[in-house]
Amino acid sequence: MSSRNEVVIGLMGLGVVGSGVAQGLLDKARTITNQVGCPVNIKKVLMRDDGRTRPVPGYETRLTTNAEDILSAPDIDIVIELMGGEDPAYQYIRRALSLGKHVVTANKEVIAKHSAELIALAQEKERDLRFEASVGGGIPLIAPFRRDLAANDLSALHAIINGTTNYILTRMGNDGLDFSAALQQAQQFGYAEADPTNDVEGKDAVYKLAIMATLAFHTPIYPDDIYREGITRLAARDFRYAKELGFTIKLLAIARRENGVVQARVHPVFVPQDAILAKVDGVFNAVQVEGDLVGKVLFYGRGAGSLPTSSAVLADVINIAQRINHGVNYEPRIVIDARKSIKSMSDLETRYYFRMSVADRYGVLAEIAKTFGDHLISISSVLQKESDERTRTAEIVITTHPAREAAVQQALRELQALPVVREIGNFVRMEAQL
Ligand SMILES: NC(=O)c1ccc[n+]([C@@H]2O[C@H](COP(=O)([O-])OP(=O)(O)OC[C@H]3O[C@@H](n4cnc5c(N)ncnc54)[C@H](OP(=O)(O)O)[C@@H]3O)[C@@H](O)[C@H]2O)c1
Repeated sequence: MSSRNEVVIGLMGLGVVGSGVAQGLLDKARTITNQVGCPVNIKKVLMRDDGRTRPVPGYETRLTTNAEDILSAPDIDIVIELMGGEDPAYQYIRRALSLGKHVVTANKEVIAKHSAELIALAQEKERDLRFEASVGGGIPLIAPFRRDLAANDLSALHAIINGTTNYILTRMGNDGLDFSAALQQAQQFGYAEADPTNDVEGKDAVYKLAIMATLAFHTPIYPDDIYREGITRLAARDFRYAKELGFTIKLLAIARRENGVVQARVHPVFVPQDAILAKVDGVFNAVQVEGDLVGKVLFYGRGAGSLPTSSAVLADVINIAQRINHGVNYEPRIVIDARKSIKSMSDLETRYYFRMSVADRYGVLAEIAKTFGDHLISISSVLQKESDERTRTAEIVITTHPAREAAVQQALRELQALPVVREIGNFVRMEAQL
C-alpha cells in the first residue's frame, strides 16, 4: 500500500557516475515510479563552487554549493554520495546517517576504510547504508553477500576487480606489448586515468577486496590488512613463459578464511589457463566466491563506467525508496563480528615463478638449487631461455612446488648476492587452487 507522494533525493557529486544517476532518474522515471509506488525526485544537487559551469540538463534550478542544503533538509529521505575521495565524503555520509537519512554511495575508499563504523551508525539510526556500486560497478555483489549467500560459510574469494589492470594485462598477454605500451593504449581508450597509480599499484583492488572480505567473513578487514603488489614489474616475456608453462597472468584480489584466520592479498598471479578467471579479459571483472553450501559461484560483468555503475546506484535507491514508501524500516542488519586474526603474508604457502639472468657457465644451476634447498624450497621445473654469447649470460625460468613466502623472500635475498646471478628479473606467485 503506497503512503507517499514522493521519495526525495539529495545528490552529492555530478561527475561520471553522478550524471549517469541523475540522467537515469529522469529517463527511467516511469519505470521507477511503477516499482516504488510513487515518484523518486532529486531535490538538490551538490556541486563544487569553482567558477566552472557544467552541463546539468534537467537540474539547473536544483543546484547548490552548500552541503547543508542537502544534509539538513528535513524532507530529503536519501542522500546519494558520488563525489569520491575520503573527505569530505566520509564526513557527509556520517552526518547524513546521524540526521536520520538513508545513504547510497559508490565510494570504495570511504566504505573500505570505515564500513564497520558506518554500518553500526546506520543500524543505530535504523537507516540504510547501501554501497552496491562501490565494488564491481554494475555486477551484483554486495546484495548477494548480504542476502543470497547468507546461509553459507564463505571460505575464499578470488577476484579480477580492476578493469584497467585487466585490460593492460590482457594486451600484454595477447599482443606481446610491454607494460608502458599497454598502459598507453588503456589511456587512449579511456580505460586508464592520466595518473594510473591507484589502479596499476593495486590500491583500487585493495579497497574493493576490503569491502568484499568484510562482508564475506563478517569481520572488519581494512586496506592496511591487505598485502599489495601492483603490475608494473611484469614484462612481456613473463607472459610468454607463463604461456609455455600453461598459465596466464592476472592481478588477483584474494581473501581466504581458514580456522578463523583471514588472509587477504592483491598481487599478480600465475593462473592456470583452464581456470575460468584466466578467460576474463579486457575491462571485464569477475569475482569467484566459495561457500560450504553453494560451492563455487562466479559473478561477471563490467566493473566500471557511468551506466553500469548507475545501474547499481539506482537499484539501491529503488530498494530503499520501496521500503520508505511502504513504511518498512531498514533492511536486516549486516552482521560484522569482532575482528578476526589476520594471517601474515610471510606465512603464505604457494608455488612461485622466478625469472633470472645468470652467468652462462657450468655449475650455476647447482648453486641456485642449493640456495633454494637451504630454505626447503623444492624446485618443480627449470627452463633455460635466451642466452647472450657476448655477455655470457642466460635467462632461466624456475618454478617451485608450494613453499613458504618467508623462506622464498630469504632465498631471493641470498640469490641476489650470488656472483653467478646477474639479475632477478621477476618473481610471481602461482595459484593452483582456483
Ligand atoms: N567512474 C566509475 O566508473 C566508477 C565506478 C564505480 C565506482 N565509482 C565511484 O563513484 C564515485 C564517483 O566517481 P566518478 O567517476 O563519478 O568521479 P568524478 O567524475 O570525478 O565526479 C565526482 C564529482 O563530485 C564532485 N565533487 C568532488 N568533491 C566535491 C566536493 N568536495 N564538494 C562538492 N562536489 C564535489 C566533482 O565536482 P567537480 O565537477 O567540481 O570536480 C564531480 O562532479 C567515486 O567514489 C568512485 O570511486 C566510480
